[in-house]
Amino acid sequence: MAILLPGGAGYIGSHTAVELLKEGKDIVIIDDFSNSTPKALEAIKKITGKDFKFYEMDYADREKLEKVFEENKIDAVINFAGFKAVGESVQKPIEYYTNNISGALVVLDVMRKYGCKKFIFSSSATVYGDPQVIPITEECEVGGTTNPYGTTKLFIEQILKDVYKSDNTWDICILRYFNPVGAHESGLIGEEPKGIPNNLMPYVSRVAAGILPELSVFGNDYDTPDGTGVRDYIHVVDLAKGHVKALEKLDKENEGLYIYNLGTGTGYSVLDMVKAFEESTGKIVKYKIAPRRPGDIATCFADPAKARRELGWVAEKTLEDMCKDSWNFIEKNS
Ligand code: WQD
Repeated sequence: MAILLPGGAGYIGSHTAVELLKEGKDIVIIDDFSNSTPKALEAIKKITGKDFKFYEMDYADREKLEKVFEENKIDAVINFAGFKAVGESVQKPIEYYTNNISGALVVLDVMRKYGCKKFIFSSSATVYGDPQVIPITEECEVGGTTNPYGTTKLFIEQILKDVYKSDNTWDICILRYFNPVGAHESGLIGEEPKGIPNNLMPYVSRVAAGILPELSVFGNDYDTPDGTGVRDYIHVVDLAKGHVKALEKLDKENEGLYIYNLGTGTGYSVLDMVKAFEESTGKIVKYKIAPRRPGDIATCFADPAKARRELGWVAEKTLEDMCKDSWNFIEKNS
């Protein structure tokens, strides 16, 4: 029995592949390298000393996906595939809705055909929109997403709820990621955004490395302790381990739909992050205060108590680990 990872060569997928292999699970990865490279696959093998099957293909290609299910005994699917750039999604809504939503529907339909009903979905804290209550619990209202990327996550969550309602023999887990950062401690896998990064941590590490001249801090007049935006940064290895726990939960429970926040429960501001990065690496991160970025919110951090209670999962890495591992990855790969 194998776990299928569409998008398994990507940032979060590759780290989860490592944790699953370390737990002795069999995996099958499919990826079209639209936002990843074959190098990640070699790195997963090097880190774990284990091999796995790989198919280079679009996860939404039904015919090829059926072949994957024919050739392997797939017990569960953890879907990492999909487009994820917030800004780009505003420019290309049709591409985003097609790839993310149609892709998920193809996967679910093929799973159903082959009697595979365990599905773990990469959702995002973005589904909470501008949260009414902080820290955010899973009971908080969802909606009010400000870009097509976020809306694809919201819609797929709704699709999963409807699928479960129609047939409660499905076993579904929705994981709402907060802000994934860092890299594997080996420096062999990490985040490699194409072009100029949009997210804070990859930007900060590129400024420290001299690849980019300075960080623009988007707004210092928010209602937060130092005026800059506050987020719940979570080490990608902790996040990856959350998927292993979610899989264990589905294996144990048999039938149900579960939703968990994967965050640390602690919020850090943009300036906290700059300072932590400088202290952890000894590098200088030059920055200037710039106008607010449209669509940004002041504060977003998780209440991760439900994941602790029901999955036995808790984020263990420190902010220093996040900074050091991001830096190690940049140093080894630039
Ligand atoms: C964090 C903080 C910025 C860059 C987004 C998506 C979300 C998600 C993760 C994706 C904010 C500030 C940033 C910079 C800055 N999922 N910032 N200068 O916006 O919380 O979440 O990424 O797959 O869906 O919305 O993350 O890292 O972009 O920003 O000052 O150059 O850093 O304003 O306060 P965000 P982020």
